[in-house]
Amino acid sequence: MERLDKIISTGGGVSRSDARKLILKGRVTVNEKTVRDIAFKVDPDADKITLNGEDISYKKYIYLIMNKPKGVLTATEDKNKQTVIDLIPGELRRRDLFPVGRLDKDTTGLLIITNDGDFAHQLLSPNKKIPKKYFVTLDGVVGEDLIPKFAAGLTLADGTKLSSAGLEIGEDSHTALVTITEGKYHQIKRMFGLFSLGVNELKRVSFAGLDLPETLLESEVRELTVNELRCIKNAKIVTK
Ligand code: URA
Repeated sequence: MERLDKIISTGGGVSRSDARKLILKGRVTVNEKTVRDIAFKVDPDADKITLNGEDISYKKYIYLIMNKPKGVLTATEDKNKQTVIDLIPGELRRRDLFPVGRLDKDTTGLLIITNDGDFAHQLLSPNKKIPKKYFVTLDGVVGEDLIPKFAAGLTLADGTKLSSAGLEIGEDSHTALVTITEGKYHQIKRMFGLFSLGVNELKRVSFAGLDLPETLLESEVRELTVNELRCIKNAKIVTK
């Protein structure tokens, strides 16, 4: 059982204090009856709850997939800049959502957003070695000699030792697919920087075994399907 003000706040996308005001004003019904008690306990799965006459759909956890565009911060809020949370349409927006990990402002592609802290923790834990794949466009030619170096584990300029990474070079030698299992600050850019290569474009195309769906256009966000969520939860741990 959950407190009514919590359900109205989370399910209705309003602050907890606004939820209390709405309840006190008689805008909330539970099983067709107006309830003015903010601490009233409800079973969100069984009780029919409305706010201003509209059904409140309440799920404890929500899992979203976004195709992040350029120029948007991977943060929950920022005074001046647009964040990934700002891109979430009203019907999916909840106050407790946060992005799972970070993509740089100019990086695009697959980003998971959730309110499930344990789920996020599992995916971000370094010893879980969850694979993340990026499509990289470089300002120079990537040589085959980099493949064994990436595989052996690079050491960044500041001495940070990296785990083994996969490198597949595109036919034009200016693009590559890179698979990493950790998420150090600006990691891919710094990896190529060791070989004097600049990253022109960076797009995450796969995360925890889930590929960015082709149908999800840039800036779009939707709930993960049951199968997609299962795929992520069963993510293969890369042991190399
Ligand atoms: N590596 C980077 O350099 N930037 C990202 O956004 C992700 C990985």
